[in-house]
Amino acid sequence: MPDFLVDEQVEDYAFLNTTAEPELLQELIDQTNLNMGWPQKLSGRLVGRTLKMLAAIHQPKRCLEIGMFTGYSALSIAEGMPEDGKLVCCETNPRAIEFAKTFYERSKHGSKIEVVFGRALDTLEELDKYIDGPLDFTFIDADKRNYYNYYTKVKELTRPGGLIVLDNVLWSGKVLQPESEIDDALVETNLLIAEDPEVENVFLTVRDGVNVVRVL
Ligand SMILES: C[S@@+](CC[C@H](N)C(=O)[O-])C[C@H]1O[C@@H](n2cnc3c(N)ncnc32)[C@H](O)[C@@H]1O
Repeated sequence: MPDFLVDEQVEDYAFLNTTAEPELLQELIDQTNLNMGWPQKLSGRLVGRTLKMLAAIHQPKRCLEIGMFTGYSALSIAEGMPEDGKLVCCETNPRAIEFAKTFYERSKHGSKIEVVFGRALDTLEELDKYIDGPLDFTFIDADKRNYYNYYTKVKELTRPGGLIVLDNVLWSGKVLQPESEIDDALVETNLLIAEDPEVENVFLTVRDGVNVVRVL
């Protein structure tokens, strides 16, 4: 899991000066910490409120999340989406799915979310079973080794003007001196996006790095 690059005091200051997530999401964080392995997987307030803000501004109706875990980012995105929006979440961990669903049942935004169990690359191949029409918004946050594959496939499925947001693009700074296959996959994906004339992007140094891409 990432060691964050931003100075801890600065991170705390940004956290305290960002709108708090709803109480249900605070409870979700506490329960994830208590009951699930790797609670650090959860994206947290700064990324979650960024996703909510983007969704609230963009009003996407056809949304996708790759890597849902216990549902923190999914509920953050759903909170900003319009009432008739749909968010399809890809996840391979049955325990995380079961956990997340208990929170979706309690949230007024939970009915916008459909969970699909299975490898995201497989789900992407048959996405038209779950979403009608091109994607408006995608959050990519699963196995980093496949970021390049996720991004290229999602871009094909996204409408002009649609957003693709990728988490952990700094990978604790390892993208500066890549040493592993995963580091390389992230570097290649970041470069692909930066050099792609068909998109514009902003590489935010929020937490472990968040790349916001808009398809032209
Ligand atoms: C970093 S966590 C997601 C955190 C979540 N987006 C959040 O912010 O709360 C990554 C998740 O991706 C899931 N995952 C890993 N490989 C996957 C795959 N091939 N397809 C779908 N999900 C996968 C893991 O089980 C894990 O729950």
